[in-house]
Amino acid sequence: MKVSQAEFVESFLPKSSYVLPPSSFPHVPLALPYWNGATYRAILRSLLTGSVIAGSDLGKLRASVIESLGGVDALLCASGSFALEIALGACGVQPGDEVVIPTFCCTTVVLPILAVGAIPVLADVGDEMNLTAETVVAVLTHKTKAIIVPHLFGNPAEIDAIVGLTRGRNIRVIDDAAQALGATIEGRPVGSFGDAGILSFGSEKICSGIGGGVVVSRHKEILNGGVKIDLPAARFSLSLRTLLSTLFYRRWRRWTLPLLRRLWDAAGPDTPPAPYRKEAMANLNAAVALSLMQALSENIAARRARVAAYRELLGNEERLKLIPHRPGSACLTQVVRVLPKRRGEDSASEIIQALCSAGYEIQGSYVPIHTLPNYESWVRKPLPLAERVWSELIELPCEPDVSLDQVERIAAIVKMA
Ligand SMILES: Cc1ncc(COP(=O)(O)O)c(C=O)c1O
Repeated sequence: MKVSQAEFVESFLPKSSYVLPPSSFPHVPLALPYWNGATYRAILRSLLTGSVIAGSDLGKLRASVIESLGGVDALLCASGSFALEIALGACGVQPGDEVVIPTFCCTTVVLPILAVGAIPVLADVGDEMNLTAETVVAVLTHKTKAIIVPHLFGNPAEIDAIVGLTRGRNIRVIDDAAQALGATIEGRPVGSFGDAGILSFGSEKICSGIGGGVVVSRHKEILNGGVKIDLPAARFSLSLRTLLSTLFYRRWRRWTLPLLRRLWDAAGPDTPPAPYRKEAMANLNAAVALSLMQALSENIAARRARVAAYRELLGNEERLKLIPHRPGSACLTQVVRVLPKRRGEDSASEIIQALCSAGYEIQGSYVPIHTLPNYESWVRKPLPLAERVWSELIELPCEPDVSLDQVERIAAIVKMA
């Protein structure tokens, strides 16, 4: 039976929303930010010394990003989404130009494209759920002005091959390392490929701070060369509000989740992305981000250990396919494809339910953007891989605060469900 797209999306929603009972405290909340003593000290220092908006942490974070990404220029701003908007503008993207993005991604990347008046064009993804040269070439037209290449789940996409495609075509490539800070491709950090790159310190990232974005480029003419980029100053009230909401909603989620669930409904895949902050980064955000950058190596080492553990524990299960991480991956999460036990069965949702009932706040992965209401017009051809696979995916947590014992318990539940 053929189902309409609306029915298709609607049928997805209730199954994949979180099913933790409202009163329960999770053992492992979703995407717990990896903060340390230095993070809390940085917050207190900014608050007590009156350096919430301006201060020396901004310069230190910029220097740290330039050092980590290898001699690039960097511009700090309030969010990864705003960083994308700035990068698109700096790459000369004009109203009516087309910008290629993967359909399998968060809807957040759409807003910056619309903000510069350009048209998002959705491309399919390869087996690792990232854009590939083949999926990109299939959607290029004479109007294509830029390609945004995210490295989903911390796993590097084949950005070199995509850059190769654009030679001689006047198409810019934006290296979207929002989910992959610290990842490398043959030793070179992601974020530093293409014409411009972006990083994010927002939620559900490798370094989840209290928000913030960075535009990076190796080309002087991109940042403050051809275009003068003056950002509105950060606002004190917004910075404090983000600090409090990150603490309650994310960092202390283990204890606040029952209350949060009573107050707000979980966002569904078709919930429109919230408008992003369009201003400079505040010193408070930079201070937090800097403390996280300083712990980046141990953060990534711990994440890689969790990915290795899932591989050992689940790698031989016949009905599970672990989406592989490349050697330089930052290992944000481990995505697992769950093949249905019987035709038509939704085994992925069953596993999510079993994990949530056991106190692990786990969710499915992205719904392809072109299957969501209001986004269908940006697809020109069938996108078979994303369409075939998305509903069978679950994301297992790799945060350093999820202990290896908990990883074992999660794997045991996945095997049993
Ligand atoms: C791939 C990708 N790019 C850009 C962004 C935007 O980052 P931010 O949340 O800091 O606005 C996100 C956020 O989830 C993302 O996943």
